[in-house]
Order: sequence, then structure tokens, then C-alpha cells
Amino acid sequence: MEELNLMKQAVQALMTGMPLALRDPHRPVWHLAPSVGLLNDPNGFIQHNGVYHLFYQWNPLGCDHRNKCWGHWQSTDLLNWQHQPVALVPGACYDSHGCYSGSAVVADGKIMLAYTGNVKYPDGSRTAYQCLALENAQGGYDKLGPVLPLPEGYSGHVRDPKVWRHQDSWYMVLGARDLQDRGKVLLLRSADLRSWQLLGEIAGTQLNGMGDFGYMWECPDLFTLADAEVLICCPQGLAAQDERYLNVYQAGYLTGKLDYRQAAFEHGEFHELDAGFEFYAPQTMLAEDGRRLLVGWMGVPEQDEACHPTLQYGWIHTMTCPRELSLQNGKLYQQPARELQRLRGEGSQWQGMADNAPGWPVGSAEVMLTPNGAFSADFGDAMTLSWDGALLRLTRNNLRNGQPEHRYWRGEVTHLQMLFDSSSVEIFINHGEGVMSSRYFPGPQPRLRLSGEAQLALEHWPLTPCML
Ligand code: FRU
Repeated sequence: MEELNLMKQAVQALMTGMPLALRDPHRPVWHLAPSVGLLNDPNGFIQHNGVYHLFYQWNPLGCDHRNKCWGHWQSTDLLNWQHQPVALVPGACYDSHGCYSGSAVVADGKIMLAYTGNVKYPDGSRTAYQCLALENAQGGYDKLGPVLPLPEGYSGHVRDPKVWRHQDSWYMVLGARDLQDRGKVLLLRSADLRSWQLLGEIAGTQLNGMGDFGYMWECPDLFTLADAEVLICCPQGLAAQDERYLNVYQAGYLTGKLDYRQAAFEHGEFHELDAGFEFYAPQTMLAEDGRRLLVGWMGVPEQDEACHPTLQYGWIHTMTCPRELSLQNGKLYQQPARELQRLRGEGSQWQGMADNAPGWPVGSAEVMLTPNGAFSADFGDAMTLSWDGALLRLTRNNLRNGQPEHRYWRGEVTHLQMLFDSSSVEIFINHGEGVMSSRYFPGPQPRLRLSGEAQLALEHWPLTPCML
């Protein structure tokens, strides 16, 4: 569809669809969600002149993975976000089948977007171009066209440019599937953002001792944290294990040292970033105050989309809350961005045996829990969290025709911070050592109920809506 036509239809979809979407009792009140249609990856996350920008993969015309545009929000506090003009709409010959994921940098004082133009052919084949678009005076973005066609030796799946500045050059990582169906991350360099040189493959299947590690790696992100390099990536094609890799696709990270000149990345093992049901394609940025912030998509491609009750209201998926990253003993920790504390209403505290706990409303709430033994917590019948002293188990009861499904985090649990918003929970374990992010769909006015003989200390705050 050409750009103008798509935009006209998007306006129509918004006008007719928004009143319905806003009536959805499962609509988040402080998370980012699409006005109508489908949201997936966060894109172009950046702070410029004090203003945070978050772009996102958006299909305004339906709840399926087509017509991918870049929606755009901005904020000065990471809490209240304002809609901006839609940044990218597919339709040019180099992005006819979607303006796919990418990132943002500031070049010559302006925001420059790097994204993937996805092109599909009638015979089912496809190609991809890495493209640029530059901020204009109206707050919109002008496409500058492709700067990189498919590199030789790769399939049509080469995408999701993450660009950053290091010393005197620009660098880019790309996710790729090679001609032998091996997932890879490519490193490229440019002096001017326009002409790119492929330096090599820095991670992937059969590289650096990884063995078979998936047929495609999506959405790479590379950054330095506490003197190490962290490579976030989303491998597709990992076989599920007992307690790991249980989502359809994984999001995780490798830490190590990148030799920019040799394009060599010596890294340790792959760790999942999140042990919950929904988390994928996260993107990070360096805030002006030096924090490394992350936002993820609280969804997973091809996972359970048809079951989401929000479809009846014409929208699907949300972002995670913004998180602060730190590296502790080689492990990536995630904590809710400190700004979120400003949403807290009047707090209350409780201590005692779990079985005697009164129950707390968790429609939009934050709960801190310090357990002292095994316990179980029910979030309004749709989801249960239990700890037996060794294994934390999250059970969802009401998505796949009431069939219970489980996710796990193994280890000593000394502290839990849980953020609830209408149809999601993000559970931060031991101040960010682990996270479980999940959508769940409780009945009206869900309450947290505890059970077990363990002694617990709990703090509860209602969270004030800021995204209605
Ligand atoms: C990840 C992803 C990206 C792609 C985008 C398309 O969820 O598949 O690789 O650029 O979504 O929407």
C-alpha cells in the first residue's frame, strides 16, 4: 500500500477504534500501549536535549504483523508520554513491506533514525535495506533512503540496525541469518552514517564456541557497561529446556570484550534477560545522566497472540516499564527506572505469616515482598507466583483455554519487587538479579492473596495512572 493511502486508513482506524480501545478494562494505565492495532519492538530509544524519544513498531490497521510503521512518543520524565507525528510509514520501493526495527543517534544536532526497509516479492522471497531518516522542523522524519543493501553471504533476513558512536567512527550491529541458516550478529563501521563497511561477524551460531544457537538473531544491541561490552540479542530457534528457553523466541545477552579493530568479541555464556512469559526485542540507550536504560516489548513474536482478550478491543501488546541496567559480577541487573517511584500513592506496610495476610488491590500497584521461607502469591486467579525455597514458579491459568503454563527462576529469593498494571506484572527478583515480565488477564479489581506458613514483610503502594 502506498504511504498516503496507509495514513488515510490509519486515521480512520484511530477515529473509529480509539473509543473502543479505551473501554478495555485490561488497558494499562501507566505502561505504553498502542492507541489501536499492534505494537511490537521499541525502536530509536534516545534522549536528546533532555527529551526522551521512544519509537515503536506499530501496525495501526490491525492486530497482525503487517503495515509496520514507526510510531513515536516523547517524554521529559519517562512517565508521561506524548504522541508525536508518526515517524515512518512503509511504501517506498526500499521499505514497501515494512519500516522494520532500528535505532536513533544524534548527528549534527538532529535525530537520525536507522531502520530496516523490508521488501517482499510475489514469489515469497525477500530482501532488506538498511535505511536512514532525518528529523525535520515539524517533528516528523524525512526518509533519506537506503545506505546498505544485503551483504553477500546472507539471506533476506538482515535487519534491526543499532548504531552508536565510538571514538571517531559510527558503528552498527545487525541481526542476520546466513545462507546456511545460522543466526549471526554483524559489526559495521562508517565515517558518515552513509557509507558502511562490514567488519565481520561478532557473535552467533558456531562462533566463539557457541555451537548451534539458532537460525536467526534479531534486534542486537551493543554497549559498554562497567568496562565490559554487553551484547543483547534475540536468537530464534533455541530448543526449550526444562526451565529455560520456554518462550517461542528468547531475548538474552552476552558479556565480554569487543576488539573493534579485529571485529572480535570474546564473550561468556548466553543468559536470558527475563524469565517471564512475555519479553522480547529490548533496546537500550545512554541517558544524559549516564544511566543505561532499557525498554522491552512485553510480547513475543508468534506467541499466544490469538488468545489475548484485548483483541476484542482492537489493540494488542504493551512495552515493559523503563529499567536501569547495571553489571554486577558479570551479570546484568535490571531495576525499574527510579522515576517510577513518583507514581506511588500512599504506602502501607504489613508483616506476619503469609496465611494471615489480608490481601491488597493490584490493578495498578507496586508490592515489595521480603520472604522468609516458602510461600505462594495469587494475583487475582489468573496468575500465581510460588517459591519453595529453591525454585520460583510463575503460573498463568487463563490464557490458553485455562491450561496452566509455567515459567521458572532458580535461586535464593531474598526480595521481590512487583509492578502491576491492569494486565501485566513485572517481577524484579533480588533487586534486579532476575526479572519475570508477563501479561495476564484477571477479572475486575484483582487482589494479591498470600498463602503459606512463612513470615513475610510486605509494602504496598497504589500506582497513579499516567497514561490514560
Ligand atoms: C522482532 C522483529 C524484528 C523486526 C520487527 C518487525 O520482533 O521481528 O526483527 O525488525 O520485529 O516488526
